[in-house]
Amino acid sequence: MGVSRRKSGMRQHGRMSDDGARIDSSVPHSARIWNYWLGGKDNYPVDRAAGEQIRDVFPGIVLSARADRVFLGRAVRHLAGEWGIDQFLDIGTGLPTVDNTHEVAQRSNPASKVVYVDNDPLVLSHGRALLSGTREGATDFVAGDVHDPEAILESAARTLDLSRPVALTLLAIVQFVLDDRKAYDVVRTLVDAVPSGSHLVLSHGTDEINAEAARASVEYWNEHGTPPMVLRTAVRLAPFFEGMELLEPGIVPCSRWRVESPVFGEPPAVAHYCGVAVKP
Ligand SMILES: C[S@@+](CC[C@H](N)C(=O)[O-])C[C@H]1O[C@@H](n2cnc3c(N)ncnc32)[C@H](O)[C@@H]1O
Repeated sequence: MGVSRRKSGMRQHGRMSDDGARIDSSVPHSARIWNYWLGGKDNYPVDRAAGEQIRDVFPGIVLSARADRVFLGRAVRHLAGEWGIDQFLDIGTGLPTVDNTHEVAQRSNPASKVVYVDNDPLVLSHGRALLSGTREGATDFVAGDVHDPEAILESAARTLDLSRPVALTLLAIVQFVLDDRKAYDVVRTLVDAVPSGSHLVLSHGTDEINAEAARASVEYWNEHGTPPMVLRTAVRLAPFFEGMELLEPGIVPCSRWRVESPVFGEPPAVAHYCGVAVKP
């Protein structure tokens, strides 16, 4: 997909984060627009305007974002409860919302340790301010770029024991790694660094469901927002799980992954795939 940018030379304005990084409130950012669709308040007028434009061309986007968050909860509960996973490395965390990874994990096991990684200065300052966990467990928030998995692993190792199983949670983040080869390499590096019994939890926007609207929304996003993103089909997502055992039901729309109380039958498919796999 072609990615045209209109921001070069644009004047940057906004405030500084705690890290001294500039928060640019003149351009819609993925974390803040996602927060808007989730019903949060941590966003600026540009994010809300872009969020509404995208929702106009692709009304399903709000349900997709919400289904992705609900899937995160189900997957973390499943891994903590059924597999005894007590370490989570959550990359591309997003702004704090309800049921963040450490809250779900520490409800199952208060001793769970969670490291959050994001490269957005607003996410980092809000995350550090709001995400305090249990006394028995540990929660850390580090600045990191998904394109540099080695640096992420180095930071994570300050809190997590990487010789014990870890759940790598990459939700709606790999779609910002535009090149397939690079994206597969990033995930392979992370999976290679953790032992047998570790899990990969991945979700990703797709143009296989609601194709026309999904593509139009990404074209709009890549013209107006940052960072640019791609949509991938289930076939292009399969290599992320290579060498691992995909848990049932495989790669499916997030709304359909192990629904806990399907009283009204199978939920509608959202244009956002997910999968969970264990490293043998
Ligand atoms: C669409 S939000 C997803 C948030 C959360 N994972 C979820 O599923 O609700 C994408 C997040 O990835 C972060 N992000 C985007 N590009 C990134 C990069 N290169 N490195 C680290 N984080 C990145 C954004 O700041 C944002 O918080």
